[in-house]
Amino acid sequence: MQISPSILSADFANLEAELAAISNADWAHVDVMDNHFVPNLTLGLPVVEALLKVSPIPIDCHLMIEDPDRWAPPYAEAGAKSVTFHIEAARDPVQLARDIRAAGARAAFAVKPGTPFTPYEDLLAEVDMVLVMTVEPGFGGQSFMADQMPKVRQVREAVRRHGGEIWIQVDGGVSASTIEQCAEAGADVFVAGSAVYGAESAADAVEELRALVARHG
Ligand code: DX5
Ligand code: ZN
Repeated sequence: MQISPSILSADFANLEAELAAISNADWAHVDVMDNHFVPNLTLGLPVVEALLKVSPIPIDCHLMIEDPDRWAPPYAEAGAKSVTFHIEAARDPVQLARDIRAAGARAAFAVKPGTPFTPYEDLLAEVDMVLVMTVEPGFGGQSFMADQMPKVRQVREAVRRHGGEIWIQVDGGVSASTIEQCAEAGADVFVAGSAVYGAESAADAVEELRALVARHG
C-alpha cells in the first residue's frame, strides 16, 4: 500500500518545499499535461529534471500527453523511477513500455474513465503498474468516480491470473472518504492531490490516508 501525493495541488512557486512536505510518502506524483491530450498545461521535462535533483522521494510521472512513444522515455532517462503513459495516446505501447524499462524506470499505462481495460490485458506482460483514472484527466480537485471501481476489480483479477507483482494505481478524487473503497477494490497505489495539499499538514494527511488503507493490505 503506497501513497503518491500529486503536486498538481501544491504551490508551484515553492515546489522544493512542497516536496519536502511529503517526504513521508512513497512517491511524488508529477502530472505532465501538454494542452493537447488534456485541456490543461502544467510542466515538462526541464522542470521534472529540476524536481529530480531536490526530491527526497522517487518521482512518479503521469504523462497526459500526445505522442508518448516519443516523449515518455526521456522522463525515465532523466531519473523518474515510474513513468505512466496513457494507452489512448500510445501508438506502440509494447515498444514504449520496453523503452521506459530499458531506461531504468517502472513502466505503466493509464486508462481514462471511458476506456475499457480488457482490450489491454495482454499488456500486463510488459508493465509494472496500471493506472485506473477515477476522474477525467486534466484537473485536480474533481469528484471521485466510484463507477470506476468495477474496472479496478477487473484489473486486480487480471493481475492475479497473470501473476507477478503489478501495482494498481488510482488517481483522481482520492481522499479519506474514498480511499478505502479503492483499496477494497484492489488498488494498492493511491494518488491524492487536493486531499494532501489542501490539508493543514500534508505529512499528516499522508499518514491519515496510509492508516485508512493499512487494514486492507
Ligand atoms: C488529474 C491528475 C491527478 C490530480 C489529482 O488529471 O492526474 O493526479 O492531480 O488531484 P485530486 O486528488 O485533487 O483529484
Ligand atoms: Zn495524475
